[in-house]
Amino acid sequence: MLRRNFLIWFSRAVYTACGLTVVATTSRFLSAPMSRTAPGGEPIKQRIARLNSLPVGVPKLLPVEGTQTNAWIQEPAQVIGNVWVTRLSDSSTPPEKTQLSVFNASCPHNGCPIQKAIESEGYVCHCHGARFKKDGNLEPNAEEFTNPSPRGMDPLEHAVVQDPTGQWWVEIVYQSFEAGLTERIAKA
Ligand code: FES
Repeated sequence: MLRRNFLIWFSRAVYTACGLTVVATTSRFLSAPMSRTAPGGEPIKQRIARLNSLPVGVPKLLPVEGTQTNAWIQEPAQVIGNVWVTRLSDSSTPPEKTQLSVFNASCPHNGCPIQKAIESEGYVCHCHGARFKKDGNLEPNAEEFTNPSPRGMDPLEHAVVQDPTGQWWVEIVYQSFEAGLTERIAKA
């Protein structure tokens, strides 16, 4: 009798353990896409524009393409973000020494798109009124203005590179950063 009870108890324990394993594995599989961020934190190196297509001193908003992940579906060649690029050197500077400013166009306050300000040389975010100088730094608080953004615009790594045909390109490393923080922390 004792042996029979033990066998019943043992088989129930094995059955329960197997059931829990299946449930845990299934729920991890199902919830995996929810934990992925669509544009992702992965830095993306990309040739974003031909150098000679950029006017000197005029910020240009350029799209960044990459693979977008929605649930289990990966869609290549999607616009995953935008960058503000300004060519700072004119054509008297050798291409490889051209100075540029490159900023992620996502607002560090809460991720809305940053736009070129009309009334100044800087940038503005219309969601909550953040303002940035043309060098990407925060406009300081004033009597009737409190800047909602906790930090300046996020600068991105970049270089001017030549392709095999001799064309010069602006190559950037696109990266998203956590919003709402004073510190600049790359998204994982
Ligand atoms: S998201 Fe830009 S000011 Fe709030």
